[in-house]
Amino acid sequence: MIDHFSAACDIVQSAGRVLVFTGAGVSTESGIPDFRGPDGLWSRVDPEDFTISRYLDNPELRERGWRMHLNGELWGARSEVKPNPAHDAIAELWKAGKLSGVVTQNIDGLHQEAGIPADQVAELHGNLRRSHCVDCREDWETVEVLAWVEAGEADPRCPRCGGIVKTNTVMFGESLPRNEWTTALIMASAADAILVVGSTLGVYPAADVVLDPARRGVPMVIVNLGRTEHDHLATVKLDEKAGAVLPPLVEQVLGR
Ligand code: APR
Ligand code: ZN
Repeated sequence: MIDHFSAACDIVQSAGRVLVFTGAGVSTESGIPDFRGPDGLWSRVDPEDFTISRYLDNPELRERGWRMHLNGELWGARSEVKPNPAHDAIAELWKAGKLSGVVTQNIDGLHQEAGIPADQVAELHGNLRRSHCVDCREDWETVEVLAWVEAGEADPRCPRCGGIVKTNTVMFGESLPRNEWTTALIMASAADAILVVGSTLGVYPAADVVLDPARRGVPMVIVNLGRTEHDHLATVKLDEKAGAVLPPLVEQVLGR
């Protein structure tokens, strides 16, 4: 019976540079729901509501989104969510010089809050910190837009051209931010091992960042509760809670 935990430690320890790839599962222990887990967001909200076409067509949807931001429900500017031990363990690996970078699908900014510099985190699906006008691309800190909402603008419009305003997150139907994508590929090319944490690896092109090197033989450790769409590509799979298994894994890897 192979000891998956020790095998995972060996892969991370013997690697020169590890690429960490995270999904919503790394943030559930911070109180943020994932999408496809047992009580994920998609079991309560229609994913179609997160398509760019529906956002632009439907003022009620935009107003609901801004209200949720205002109430801190969308882990944005007003929320109290904090990094959990999984984020902290990943930050320890970065501080020890073990990472080629962190590529995340999450928009919560918790890797940066755990101490990883922003230029070491590629946010493939954008983030909530800034918002922009969909027409003239003028952009603002999201907290500034929330002040407009608080002052009574339920569906805030661009002061310059009157266009619709949305956060800098990537909705279904939108392309990924080019600079984040390029950064992610550079990080992946510099890695000789991959550590996936909390993702079903079922959304593309994001998942291709790690699936392509894995298919070329780069060892991949997957830490994920339940199945992912590519468990067959994992060198080692740890079906465990990230916040429970990553701290001891990092302790062992760093020889503490
Ligand atoms: N530890 C380990 N795994 C966990 C934990 C945890 N504490 N909590 C949840 N998980 C697992 C879930 O079981 C699930 O398999 O994390 C995985 C999260 O998968 P998804 O919900 O599909 O999230 P993600 O892979 O990030 O989705 C990718 O899809 O909806 C879009 O844009 C959205 O960025 C998101 C993208
Ligand atoms: Zn505008």
